[in-house]
Amino acid sequence: MKKLIVNIKQLIQIEEKPGRMKSGKEMSKLETINNAYLIINDDKIHDFGPMEELTDTSADETIDAEGSMVMPAFCDPHTHIVFPETREIEYIDKIKGLSYEEIAKRGGGILNSAQKIIEKSEDELFESANKRLKEMASYGTGAVEIKSGYGLTTEGELKMLRVIKRLKESSPLTIKANFLGAHAVPPEYKENQKEYVDLIINEMIPAVAKENLADYIDVFCDRGFFTVEETERILEAGAHYGLVPKIHANELDYSGGIQVGVKHNALSVDHLEYTGGEEINALKDSDTMPTLLPGASFFLELVYAPARKMIDAGLPVAMASDFNPGSSPSGNMQFILSLGSIKYKMLPEEAINATTINSAYAMGVEKELGTISKGKTANLIITKEIPNYEFLPYYYGANKVKHTIIKGEIESTNN
Ligand code: NIG
Ligand code: FE
Repeated sequence: MKKLIVNIKQLIQIEEKPGRMKSGKEMSKLETINNAYLIINDDKIHDFGPMEELTDTSADETIDAEGSMVMPAFCDPHTHIVFPETREIEYIDKIKGLSYEEIAKRGGGILNSAQKIIEKSEDELFESANKRLKEMASYGTGAVEIKSGYGLTTEGELKMLRVIKRLKESSPLTIKANFLGAHAVPPEYKENQKEYVDLIINEMIPAVAKENLADYIDVFCDRGFFTVEETERILEAGAHYGLVPKIHANELDYSGGIQVGVKHNALSVDHLEYTGGEEINALKDSDTMPTLLPGASFFLELVYAPARKMIDAGLPVAMASDFNPGSSPSGNMQFILSLGSIKYKMLPEEAINATTINSAYAMGVEKELGTISKGKTANLIITKEIPNYEFLPYYYGANKVKHTIIKGEIESTNN
């Protein structure tokens, strides 16, 4: 099946020779072609170029972009979209002045979701997460990393990961699964956290590996959650089964999470609100992608990660939605683009790189996704009529996506 898209006002984020990621100054560069065409063959990008160089116009289907832009679909490398219920009550508590940590201490937060997940069947969890995936696709997302972490028992974690496996098998979106048994300490282990860590290591990780349910392993390494030593033990146990770390770090304090992530070759360390010179130095010369979640800073009114400092120090930066019911109830990556520009002072080019190629790297799919390159998978956005790509972060809140194409097929269309 051959699809030809013609009259593209601007083709954004093309790459003739695909690279791994964009770092430092490179992040402000975005290659484009004005008045372009693009050919999709089955699920792959076959060819593209300026309209005047289009010679072969034979196609099974021709789409006239009529002045719209085309760019790679977003990759969202950090989400918790399998969850039992939204948590508006805590949101009201938050408005009244309670902090995320205070809500968590009262048994709210992650533990609240963990309590509710017991009552939900795998089918119910699948249906609600699948709806969220479709909503995310309508905002231009084509690849999603999904974490467990609301089970906090072996059965509960396996249940969540089986749901993620079903999503992988049934959704056209590219999905990666991350095992997050160390998301919070269940109340029955409150006085003996070591016993819970032992359970993760001795029971959960082998069970997850036996069913081959996870691509990655995660730990919430932060003040009041898991220590650096516990994180090390868990990551070492995961490595034994080939699970690559992608961890939560430095959201609430200078927790040592960034350093321990780098030490264990994490694919990404995520959140990073508390990042200073030492943490930046640890990230330099590593293969670990600093992944920032501005939606959580916005929603919890936390400090914002020092993205500008990181990029100016030569680091790459990726961004993700962190879509979850407690700290970031939104999977809209266009809003993340806006937050990146407004709050992190990222240029539109930097924000686009952070949500396409760098976020593809942060979920291990940069060879297939994240840029418009020949042979990569055709996960693309056709925008509505917009004046330029700077308009994407600028015109915040509105959905600027007309069509989302996933694996060469139109997955979603907005008016
Ligand atoms: O990434 N920080 C830890 N975990 C999630 C929040 C999960 C929740 O509150 O349900 C996060 O922000
Ligand atoms: Fe998270």
